[in-house]
Amino acid sequence: MTGVLTENSDAAPADRDVSALLPVKLTMALSGLVLVLMMLLGLVMRLAQGGLIDVEPQLFYEVMTAHGIGMVGAAGISGAAIMWFFLARHVRLTAWVYWTLLGFFLSGVVLILWAIFVGHFAGAWTFLYPLPAKSGGVWEPEAAATYLAGLLLVGVGFLLYYLETGRAILVRYRSLGRALAWPLLFHGSQEDLPPPSVVASAAVTVFNGVGVIVGAAVIVISLINLYLPAFGIDPLLAKNMIYFFGHVFINATIYMAVIAVYELIPEYTGRPWKTSRVFAAAWSAILFLVIAVYPHHLLQDTVMPGWALIVGQVLSYASGLPLVCVTAFSLIVYLHRSGIRWDLASALLVTGVFGWTAGVMPAIVDAVISVNKVLHNTMWVPGHFHFYLLLGEVAMAFGFMTWLVRGKQEEEFTGAARWAYGAYFLGGLGVVLMFLFAGASSVPRRWAVHLPEWTMQDRITSVFAIVSIVGVSVMVARYLIRFASESRA
Ligand code: HEM
Repeated sequence: MTGVLTENSDAAPADRDVSALLPVKLTMALSGLVLVLMMLLGLVMRLAQGGLIDVEPQLFYEVMTAHGIGMVGAAGISGAAIMWFFLARHVRLTAWVYWTLLGFFLSGVVLILWAIFVGHFAGAWTFLYPLPAKSGGVWEPEAAATYLAGLLLVGVGFLLYYLETGRAILVRYRSLGRALAWPLLFHGSQEDLPPPSVVASAAVTVFNGVGVIVGAAVIVISLINLYLPAFGIDPLLAKNMIYFFGHVFINATIYMAVIAVYELIPEYTGRPWKTSRVFAAAWSAILFLVIAVYPHHLLQDTVMPGWALIVGQVLSYASGLPLVCVTAFSLIVYLHRSGIRWDLASALLVTGVFGWTAGVMPAIVDAVISVNKVLHNTMWVPGHFHFYLLLGEVAMAFGFMTWLVRGKQEEEFTGAARWAYGAYFLGGLGVVLMFLFAGASSVPRRWAVHLPEWTMQDRITSVFAIVSIVGVSVMVARYLIRFASESRA
């Protein structure tokens, strides 16, 4: 480890602690493989929509469910690995909790895969109540129950994880306020200032802990409802709970992954990433906004109270600003005339902040109620979240992966590494821009069969997807080869 440049790092760096390093490296290997496989499923969907291959609609929705939940899971577990790894530089974490998360996660994945590809569950990763129980004969209640049980296992794993990160942060910083740097924010105190990774981890622990609990509650209700239909829940309340959980969870994946930027960019620029007053204010704001902003997913639900929708719209403008502006703006300042050393890892980390920032913008547009009426449920929405996931979270995760297995010598950003990066970035940009273009042309989302007028866009996207998948496969293969040779050494 070449020097930890974050401030106030007073615990053993995790990268010297083998018990934290091995499970994290394994997680990144797993996430990389799953990402490639799920991108292939994404390509299958695009080829099918473009009429280039025949996929029965029932199978299309199974593939869509697997792609959605597989990607959300891969983003979640890679983000969790990044947060664990860097948080362990500053607080003392208990290794078996992380192994337990991995165990629950993998068991959940087995159940989910069985439910989809053997039981034919195809109700999308959002499992919208009461769809699991009302399949119209496409899948049996057992398949829906297995899917929900799998999700529950993953959720319990994450809950244990956040209980442990919360415990360790409280032991070290004595209160949540201190871990969120409130003494600095409200009194200007510099005493025992938490580094950015701790501030971010504390905020994510709180909001995603709440999100996972709400998700688990609605999953349990849906599970009981499968076998006891009289045990129901108001569908609007269930939708609120599901979208609250889904919104918070997917956002948390990036808020965890960005910790890699805070910790690693200083290694490349020689400038420590500081916990400033503005940084602390931004993270405290996000703690509230991530929780409060989810009604922007429900703007078409006319039965929602008007005030909730207006709150969703107004807070959506606000929510993009604190972190994206603070992180993106700080990154530009830290990079400016820093003489940064570019290699694959640093290029990916900077790309991640770009993808995140740019990907939030279409969401803010879609959160305007009058725009949402025509734009929601079109490809605009996959365009937005693919932007911030494919070019945001995934870029940060790959940047971290690449850094984890870096050689002892400084590496040139040339050859296969440069080509792989170029293919991933340009292919990925093509994929997301085509999604947005299709959305702006009113192509609906989640349609297995597309009208002939739309297929040209689907086919162009497929070409970009192939280019991106080639780039990502090279980066994952590079990681696996280096990881395997390190393990043998
Ligand atoms: C080559 C890259 C990718 C391609 C070609 C691709 C393709 C697709 C397609 C065609 C859909 C369905 C769109 C629709 O008609 O509604 C979709 C949905 C989705 N994708 Fe991707 N995708 C890719 C990468 C990713 C990544 C990296 C993530 C996240 C990390 C992701 C997460 C999702 C999610 C959450 C859905 C929503 C599924 C649903 O509506 O239930 N995708 N993707």
